[in-house]
Amino acid sequence: MGVSAFVFLSSSLFLFYSVFSNAVDSITQSQSISDSKGTNLVSKDGGFVLGFFSTGNSNNRYLGIWYKNIPVRTVVWVANRGNPIRDSSGVLMLNSSGSLVLLSQNRTVVWSANSTKEAGSPVVELLDSGNLVLREKNEENPESYLWQSFDYPSDTWLPGMKLGWDLRTGLERRLTAWKSPDDPSPGELSCGIVLHNYPEIVTKNGSKIYGRTGPWNGIRFSGALWLKANPVYNFTFVSNKDELYFMYHTIKKSVITRAVLNQTFYVNERYIWIEADKKWIPYCSVPQDKCDSYNLCGAYGNCKIGDSPICQCVEGFKPKSPETWNPDDWAKGCVRTTELSCKDKDKIGFVKLVGLKLPDTTYSWMNESMNLNECEVKCLNNCSCTAYSNTDIRDGGSGCAIWYGDLIDIRQVAANGQDANLQDVYIRIPASKKVNQEVSPKKKKVNQEDVIDKQKMKVRVAVAIAIAVVFGVLLIAYCICKRKNFREKMKNKRMIDQNIDGQNEDLELPFYSLATIAIATNKFSSNTKLGEGGFGLVYKGILADGQEIAVKRLSQNSRQGLSEFKNEVISIAKLQHRNLVRLLGYCIEGEEKMLIYEYMPNGSLDSFIFGWPMRFNIICGIARGLQYLHEDSRLRIIHRDLKASNILLDSKMNPKISDFGMARSFGGDQTEGNTNRVVGTCGYMAPEYAIDGLFSVKSDVFSFGILLLEIICGKKNRGSFHLEYSLNLVGHAWKSWKEGRTLELIDTCLKDSCILSELERCLHISFLCLQQHHEDRPNMSFVVMMLHSESSLQEPKEPGFYVGKKSLSSSKNQSSSTNEITITSLDGR
Ligand SMILES: *[C@@H]1O[C@H](CO)[C@@H](O)[C@H](O)[C@H]1NC(C)=O
Ligand SMILES: *[C@@H]1O[C@H](CO)[C@@H](O)[C@H](O)[C@H]1NC(C)=O
Ligand SMILES: *[C@@H]1O[C@H](CO)[C@@H](O)[C@H](O)[C@H]1NC(C)=O
Ligand SMILES: *[C@@H]1O[C@H](CO)[C@@H](O)[C@H](O)[C@H]1NC(C)=O
Ligand SMILES: *[C@@H]1O[C@H](CO)[C@@H](O)[C@H](O)[C@H]1NC(C)=O
Ligand SMILES: *[C@@H]1O[C@H](CO)[C@@H](O)[C@H](O)[C@H]1NC(C)=O
Ligand SMILES: *[C@@H]1O[C@H](CO)[C@@H](O)[C@H](O)[C@H]1NC(C)=O
Ligand SMILES: *[C@@H]1O[C@H](CO)[C@@H](O)[C@H](O)[C@H]1NC(C)=O
Repeated sequence: MGVSAFVFLSSSLFLFYSVFSNAVDSITQSQSISDSKGTNLVSKDGGFVLGFFSTGNSNNRYLGIWYKNIPVRTVVWVANRGNPIRDSSGVLMLNSSGSLVLLSQNRTVVWSANSTKEAGSPVVELLDSGNLVLREKNEENPESYLWQSFDYPSDTWLPGMKLGWDLRTGLERRLTAWKSPDDPSPGELSCGIVLHNYPEIVTKNGSKIYGRTGPWNGIRFSGALWLKANPVYNFTFVSNKDELYFMYHTIKKSVITRAVLNQTFYVNERYIWIEADKKWIPYCSVPQDKCDSYNLCGAYGNCKIGDSPICQCVEGFKPKSPETWNPDDWAKGCVRTTELSCKDKDKIGFVKLVGLKLPDTTYSWMNESMNLNECEVKCLNNCSCTAYSNTDIRDGGSGCAIWYGDLIDIRQVAANGQDANLQDVYIRIPASKKVNQEVSPKKKKVNQEDVIDKQKMKVRVAVAIAIAVVFGVLLIAYCICKRKNFREKMKNKRMIDQNIDGQNEDLELPFYSLATIAIATNKFSSNTKLGEGGFGLVYKGILADGQEIAVKRLSQNSRQGLSEFKNEVISIAKLQHRNLVRLLGYCIEGEEKMLIYEYMPNGSLDSFIFGWPMRFNIICGIARGLQYLHEDSRLRIIHRDLKASNILLDSKMNPKISDFGMARSFGGDQTEGNTNRVVGTCGYMAPEYAIDGLFSVKSDVFSFGILLLEIICGKKNRGSFHLEYSLNLVGHAWKSWKEGRTLELIDTCLKDSCILSELERCLHISFLCLQQHHEDRPNMSFVVMMLHSESSLQEPKEPGFYVGKKSLSSSKNQSSSTNEITITSLDGR
């Protein structure tokens, strides 16, 4: 009653609201929101509504907040979560002492906002952010609100909402899932910041830890690779003596996004509202993969996606049950290969591990003003200390974090290696394991005054080690040379030289000695490792003249034999194109085969996210590079293993095709071949190649089609599928395209930056490349032409699906795969 009178007397702006919603954005003491009268509050900008609602088929009534203009009613906050009103008697009002109360029949208090202070002339207002606040009439300062719904979150985390603690009052803002889609009462799944000495975000299932992000490292949470600069939202982590919270804001005001804790699937999922489709699209979700399951690998176990088994022990440790290192035993973790003696500090060293999610911080300690040396001393002086690290990785690292007891829930986060924001953690191991070059022996009786002495000592030790290493390498190289494979080695080298000489006029490809490469890569130390593939490891090195290089060290048991090695050396040495990665030299000594490339500071395509113009530029670059390989180079090269991780990006984001190890070169017109050894990567192989071993430039075109689709959709072909159809990405994309639902395919992060027609054209071209029969697929020069013209395109025939070996078994698997999809869309992999 009071509400409508108020509206009627207000300006025409309010009249506008009254026509459509019969609502205002605030009430005072004389007014109320009543279920039976159907009144509600609407935020000033019309984004959110506060009112009464029911769930499912029940008659239970709840007071809550939802988006006004989103047709699928999406509730973001509920007042009386666990205490529904059984009829429509609910009334929200300010009682005479200024408290905000929800009353049902007979004025029973169902819920109340427990503000600590009594208000003089209180106002309840629904803000544009979706925050319901109780404040003094003339008080606009958020710090002085008497009460706000953002302090008592339900399952939804909105922009501007703090997740964490007000340390002055002890107030914790924590998300709690709904029990079920129809029951908003608090479920078992909850998420918040834990107040360990070194805090982190932890999701719990009941009282058990379900997943953790790892602590904040100045840039992101150490285990949350998904948390990076993106076009949708920015984020801040605040930690001081008064407050400890994590918060995000949308970058564009028009974007509607929310993160919600969902107990049906046990995930924390971020959605974005797509107005054109009238749909919430999942943007990113946690857990992201199996390695996000808390403590999957037990103490000192390192969870590595893509490794088999997925659980590996960290350096200096071995499986506790080595005979049966199967999934049930992983949780038992790893034990030291050599027992640690605490007393003799001489016998203690630390191994530096790079790119890990930091261990569980339940038993941790931190000091933000200490440096790494002081940190090491502190750790060394306490027998219970098992590891230490910097707390902030910015500007070369600062702060000190220390772990006590077993290290739990570690995972490898640097999937691709070329990620600058890696955190090192130093784990205590016996110094007798000095074989490892990372271990630095410690002086006895270290104390604070000794630090300077110790540093001098360290320099001396380092110099000694460096000399020893150089000596050792030279000695090893010398011994290798002395041995009988010396002749063989010389033969190999001659063969390569001859091949190179024979087929190309004066090609000068520098030969690097093993010693040079060992020095450049700090003796292949693990912190220079950029990544690894089926062929072996890739290291970053710096030559004596300062040039940065990437060293591909072929593993001795790699599938790439001497013939393939030669093949790659010859192929790449001859090819010069701005979209191909440049080979600087090679090294072949004894069993060692290595390729030296220019270093690409931006890693590979599969780890990136960017807007459409950049992606289109990359697509065109790859197409031109491949066209050159197929048609323009003097030799015809079929790459045979084109995939996202083989596309490197230079500092200007120009794509460079790499890894010619599997390429076959042909003279003249030969464009087809047959092989008894199928090499390549599942998910990228053309059907005729995967099944019959028949390869041609057209099988590369097929792989290009997959790559194109992945770039557009922001999803991996392999391992991605759609819930409804359980098809791979190609199958799903084809189906959506046929049904005219292309918009759903497009990577959500592209929607703002794309020229739709250009993007649809790329999608169309991708289907032309993916056609079942290789005769139907266009060649690369035609692809390049199509990319740059606006002429109409042929209708593609059905694509060749090659679903690969991976099948979906249990429903649990399905949900984890779903997560993978959604997270990859954020990663743009
Ligand atoms: C107003 O509501 C609060 C919270 O339920 C209660 O403590 C207080 O006694 C109420 N005041 C009056 C005058 O009823
Ligand atoms: C409300 O009060 C009436 C009369 O005092 C009583 O009959 C009824 O049971 C009460 N209802 C509830 C829900 O307490
Ligand atoms: C608010 O009320 C809830 C339950 O009614 C209680 O658990 C909580 O401690 C109260 N908070 C404050 C700040 O009084
Ligand atoms: C969890 O998400 C699914 C899919 O979006 C949805 O159908 C379900 O209602 C959600 N569950 C809860 C408890 O919100
Ligand atoms: C959550 O905890 C409950 C009760 O302990 C358990 O039954 C359920 O399997 C757990 N769910 C997950 C996903 O861990
Ligand atoms: C996040 O974006 C908003 C809107 O563009 C801006 O006002 C805010 O300062 C940004 N915050 C951070 C931490 O970058
Ligand atoms: C943190 O380290 C600094 C520098 O070593 C020291 O001055 C300070 O007292 C330490 N703080 C705590 C709480 O230990
Ligand atoms: C080592 O650290 C543990 C855990 O903080 C502590 O309880 C113990 O007193 C420390 N010991 C020494 C010798 O400082």
